[in-house]
Amino acid sequence: TRPTLIAPSVLPADFSKLGEEVAALEAAGVDLIQWDVMDGQFVPNLTFGPDVIASARSHSTLPFEAHLMVYTPDVMAKNYIDAGCSRLIVHAEACTHLHRTLGNINELGATGAVALNPATPASAIEHVLDLIDMVLVMTVNPGFGGQAYIPTMEPKIAEVQRMLEAAGRADDVHIEVDGGIGPDTIAGAASAGANVLIAGSALFRDPEGLEHAVTDLRARAE
Ligand code: DX5
Repeated sequence: TRPTLIAPSVLPADFSKLGEEVAALEAAGVDLIQWDVMDGQFVPNLTFGPDVIASARSHSTLPFEAHLMVYTPDVMAKNYIDAGCSRLIVHAEACTHLHRTLGNINELGATGAVALNPATPASAIEHVLDLIDMVLVMTVNPGFGGQAYIPTMEPKIAEVQRMLEAAGRADDVHIEVDGGIGPDTIAGAASAGANVLIAGSALFRDPEGLEHAVTDLRARAE
């Protein structure tokens, strides 16, 4: 079985002290760091590129993954890996040649993952299960933090789990969820099959601090 991993989206972090924020997240017990890369085209919002991620690399020993909400993930894939990301998450909706894009990521030495927007069927990943180590089922429409969790994604998470089992890949491929994950929603996502749980505002918003938020979310997910 896959481990339960709790990870932050750094979108709500204080960008004026990103290195300290990443170190504080590691100290609070998160398992990896997710960087929400937005190009202002695939999603309305615009965030940061590989140089910002590289600036934070030396402030944490945790794995970095880049969630590439961008139209052209092939163009900069190597830059994100050189910046210190060991996993690149590309959107099925942005990739005309998804099989080739994932093959390229693997050849560059990183692992590849596919993100599915809420309207995109799980079948979109049916023919690339051998090229990925994670599926990201978006539980909001991407672009902004602080949005409401979409509970109708839970049957889709369960469908991805069934696809992985049928393909004999259930132990090798993580199921990640991202968007609106917090104390009231994490159990539903986890019981549907998600084992990597991304939280942005729920982590940074917790009045009892990051460590409490991470511990509480982990307890609710397991
Ligand atoms: C949405 C991003 C999510 C978001 C999560 O486009 O991909 O990572 O920042 O933020 P919360 O947890 O606040 O929904």
